[in-house]
Amino acid sequence: MIIVLIGYMGSGKSSIGKKLSRKLRCNLIDLDDFIVEKEKASVKEIFDAKGEIYFRKKEEEYLKELLTLQEDTILSLGGGTPCFGDNMQYVLEAKNTKSIYLKSSVKSLADKLILKKSKRPLIANIQTKEALAEFIGKHLFERSPYYSKAAHQVVTDHKTKKEVVLEILSLL
Ligand code: S3P
Repeated sequence: MIIVLIGYMGSGKSSIGKKLSRKLRCNLIDLDDFIVEKEKASVKEIFDAKGEIYFRKKEEEYLKELLTLQEDTILSLGGGTPCFGDNMQYVLEAKNTKSIYLKSSVKSLADKLILKKSKRPLIANIQTKEALAEFIGKHLFERSPYYSKAAHQVVTDHKTKKEVVLEILSLL
């Protein structure tokens, strides 16, 4: 089975993915890392040199490729992946695939992302936590309809990573 982790930047897709793959002793693929490896450039370098549209094209291409994997895999997507083209539809229609939306509040996302924004081109230039929270609030409003199509939702606020992982395991 492919377990697809979906959620906004900073919602814990990568770290929860790591824990989950250890627990289930299965493969872990982070779509951003996969793109970086294939393109031999960081996400920021791709955005800067080739633009967001090029990144989104590659993101879709590699997502489709990874959704055909036969081995048990945890696949954590980028925050924008489900919201472009038909990507969410591909995830929902892929065989033997379960999607999980890691749902976090604007406040908890802003608290986390203010410390980790430099590698994320969409928010790298936002200076204050207040401005970041305002951006996230609007962005999440646009993106939530896509995220909400996931088969399951797990709220991450006020939970440890271990608790989130246990909750995911109970859904499987
Ligand atoms: C993006 C999220 C990032 C990365 C790129 C664009 C987005 O992934 O794919 O910077 O559009 O939300 P993370 O959610 O892993 O930070």
